[in-house]
Order: sequence, then structure tokens, then C-alpha cells
Amino acid sequence: MLTDRATVPADRIRIEDREGLVSFFKDVMNWPGFEHAGSTSDYWDWKYLRKPGPKPIGYASWHYGKAISHASIVPTQLMVDGRAVAAGQLGDMYTHPDHRGNGLAESMLERVERQADADGIEIVFAFPSEAGGRIIAKRGYQELPISFAHYHLITNLMFFERVSLGPLKKAAYKAMMMTKAPGRRPIPGMVAEVTDLPDDIDDMTQRFEAQFDLVLRHDRRYLEWRYGDPHGGAFRTLLATVDGRTVGLAVLRPYFMDGAGYMDIVDLMADPDHPQAARGLVAQAIEMATAEGIVEVQSWVPSDHPLVPFLLRAGFMQRTPWAMRGGCACSAILVMGTGRRR
Ligand SMILES: CC(C)(COP(=O)(O)OP(=O)(O)OC[C@H]1O[C@@H](n2cnc3c(N)ncnc32)[C@H](O)[C@@H]1OP(=O)(O)O)[C@@H](O)C(=O)NCCC(=O)NCCS
Repeated sequence: MLTDRATVPADRIRIEDREGLVSFFKDVMNWPGFEHAGSTSDYWDWKYLRKPGPKPIGYASWHYGKAISHASIVPTQLMVDGRAVAAGQLGDMYTHPDHRGNGLAESMLERVERQADADGIEIVFAFPSEAGGRIIAKRGYQELPISFAHYHLITNLMFFERVSLGPLKKAAYKAMMMTKAPGRRPIPGMVAEVTDLPDDIDDMTQRFEAQFDLVLRHDRRYLEWRYGDPHGGAFRTLLATVDGRTVGLAVLRPYFMDGAGYMDIVDLMADPDHPQAARGLVAQAIEMATAEGIVEVQSWVPSDHPLVPFLLRAGFMQRTPWAMRGGCACSAILVMGTGRRR
């Protein structure tokens, strides 16, 4: 354990800590690692000050005024067997390499979990790194039996020149894509890009989420915060409508990496009574990506997600997790109950 008097072992984050934390995150982990509007401090404000609902919980340890370890829990709502449960996502857990092995991460975890319990959070969950997963598993977090799969579709055959898969694969891919053309044919008049969410968005998301045993609640306030604020990331939203009623939503994240354009489908939802909305949304996303010279569209979803068949019908293929680009390399969710029952 650190004993230096200049060391603050664990302290609840205050607004005054923002600049110290942001420079720590930027120095040690290229935080947040994706494109967003404004500065890194603006991203911190978006994540830790402007999150709707209960206040995020953050603890940090300081050494001569510099942050050396941090962990946070951002409250969110999960639907578990149809019941709304107060939950929190554990994240931004990091200890400066010069200070590892001193029990700091353990101490941050202890503090954020205790506060989460005091705040009425029933479940804490994380998408941990390998090291993070080992630490939290020792604290009683359990891995959920949900396996994530990564699907991708090549929209620009220049891709094959970049990764040199050879002319034969390119020809075979072209032939396979031709057979899948009906699955990515846009549905006229159904899908449009929007900047504001419609009044009935909560009806659609609730009906979609009712199909899952465990799912993050995407209510209007959450969606507006998560995808509608440019400081949180650069997203584009597609909405599917039938007879004036919202039947589906897709959120896209286009970005550049190593000189090539990529697009992630980060959220895809459709009213269970209108599953064809998923086809319309996926088709529109592919059309947008193709028009913008994007080389690859990808999505990372639980393999039993009800909309996976629409990705496959459009020509998406499953990829091994290690080969994915630009996203989270983690493949598991770990959860722990805080002991609280409401
Ligand atoms: C993971 C990390 C936060 C651990 O920080 P730390 O302050 O060194 O951790 P602690 O000293 O509190 O160690 C806690 C426990 O985890 C173990 N541990 C620490 N780092 C570990 C690692 N890389 N792999 C496996 N176990 C590890 C420790 O041995 C200790 O267990 P013990 O009490 O049984 O000995 C730090 O290594 C780090 O910042 N890594 C890079 C970012 C990362 O992966 N963050 C996690 C995201 S979920």
C-alpha cells in the first residue's frame, strides 16, 4: 500500500478534479479513443456531468496532485425479465503503470461499489479487459452466458486490395454478395435520417426490449444523451416509420482509421410486429456507407440478437473477435449484485 503523505489513496471525484483526470486519461489510455466534438474535457462533462438520471460515481487516487488510479460507475437502467432494475456500468478503471500492484484498483472498486450500494444500485456490470476481468471476477462478478459476435460487410471491394486477400476471394465475395442483394434492398419511403427523436420512440424501444431477458433500457432521455450530443461521439440516426408510427431505429457511427472509412451499426432496434423495419434500416445504412466511400460496415451484437438474421441476409459475415477494428476488444459482460433489493 502507498504510505507517502503526499498520496491521497481514494477520493470521491469532484468537478475541480476534471482537468487532472482528463490529463491522466489522455496520457495513459488515449481516452476516449474515438472521435467526438469538442475537447476531452467536453467529453468528460458529457459522460460525468450531463448523464441524465442518477449521478455517476467516480473515485480517484492522487500522488503529488496527479491522478494515478481511477474507477467509475455510471448509473443506467437494465430490464431484467421485464423489470426495470437500477444498474451501473463499471468503467474507466485504470492505474498508472508506475503505481500498479499497490492495491489501488482494488481500493477504487471497493469505494465505487460501496457508493453504488448506498445509491440504490442493484446490479453493477462491466465489459472488462482481460486484466480487469480477472480482478473483478475475484470480487464476485460473474460472467453472463451471453456471447457477442462481430459481423461485418465489405462495401467497397478496394478493401481486398488493402488487406491482400487475392483475386479469387474477391470474386467469390462478389458472387456471394450478389445472392444477398434482396436482403439489402432499401424499402421505399420507410427509413429517413433524423436529428430529433419522435414522440412515440419509447413505445417502440419498450416493445423491442420486451423480447430480451436482460437488456439496457434505451429510453428517450438515454438515447438523446448517448447519441444526440456530439460531445459524446459522432453518430447518425436512422428512423423507420410505417403509417406515421415509429417501427425501428438504427444508430450509426462512421469513422476513419488508417486512411479508410468504416461504419459501425451501434444500435439496431425494430418493433417485433414490423421486423422488416430491420431490413430497411440495414439496407439504408449500407447504401449510406457505399455512397460515402466507406469500405466496411460492422456490428457487434449478442449472437442470439433477434435482428442478426437481417444482418446475415444482407450479406454480413461473422468475424473472429480478434480481427475486429476500432471497437472494444472485450467479449464478455461481468455482473455483480450489490446486495440491495428494492
Ligand atoms: C487492471 C489495473 C487497473 C490493475 O490496477 P492495480 O492498481 O495494479 O491493481 P491492484 O494492485 O489493486 O490489484 C488488484 C488485484 O488484481 C491483481 N492484478 C493486478 N493487475 C493484474 C493483471 N494485469 N492481471 C491479473 N491480475 C492483476 C493483483 O494481483 C491483485 O490481486 P491480489 O490482491 O489477489 O494480489 C491496471 O493493471 C491497469 O490500469 N491496466 C490497464 C487498463 C485496464 O486493463 N483496466 C481495466 C479495464 S476493465
